Amino acid sequence: MLPAIVANWRWAMLTPIGIFVTYVALRGISESWDNDGFPESLAIKLELMPIVFPVHMVAGGLALLLVPLAFWFRGTRWHKWAGRVAAADILVAGVTALPVALLYPVTKISAAGFATQGIAWMVLLGFGLWHIRAGRMAQHRACMLMLAAVTSGALFFRIYLGLWKAIIGFKYFYYFYALDAWIAWGLPLLAMSFWLRTEKWKLRQH
Ligand code: HEM
Repeated sequence: MLPAIVANWRWAMLTPIGIFVTYVALRGISESWDNDGFPESLAIKLELMPIVFPVHMVAGGLALLLVPLAFWFRGTRWHKWAGRVAAADILVAGVTALPVALLYPVTKISAAGFATQGIAWMVLLGFGLWHIRAGRMAQHRACMLMLAAVTSGALFFRIYLGLWKAIIGFKYFYYFYALDAWIAWGLPLLAMSFWLRTEKWKLRQH
């Protein structure tokens, strides 16, 4: 009885999150061609990088689908392949994020935040792959959970920005945009690192 209730709760939580993630991913992909509504600051980037920016949007959108898929297939023979495709996609999304962040930045602080996020993403991917190739499963898992936390930054960035616009409007918008470029991925990464530490500490107690 109890496991059935827990399983139902899991689905009740995961379904809306899954729908939201899929919506943001598909919207991101479609913005690579359907971008007439872009604000001027992003339209300029698109003009300067007509290939790199759309490639980033498509690869970024796909990452939001491929990273959860690789986790979903954990423990099955599909995990390896889902992981490989996700890794290749993250590399494309991460490398293209750097010029998109640094060229004609909306603010210098937001550019630094996005660039750091992109680098952290690829460094965690590199360490995660290195650990699994050496058979260090626990370290691989930790790196990939932190990578997922950094990926979630793409969702939180849009959630926080939407909330700011809805509640405060355009007052101090550029200050918040700069802050958002750091906290959207920084806070989930901090929370995940903290959780992994307490988990390790609990395991040591047993
Ligand atoms: C996690 C690492 C990522 C980094 C570092 C990054 C970086 C950036 C940067 C710098 C911009 C231009 C905005 C600006 O300069 O103010 C941008 C725009 C964009 N990115 Fe990413 N991005 C990442 C992940 C993703 C993901 C996972 C998606 C999936 C939806 C995505 C989709 C987009 C889209 C659609 C835009 C166009 C503007 C918008 O809709 O907000 N990116 N990204």
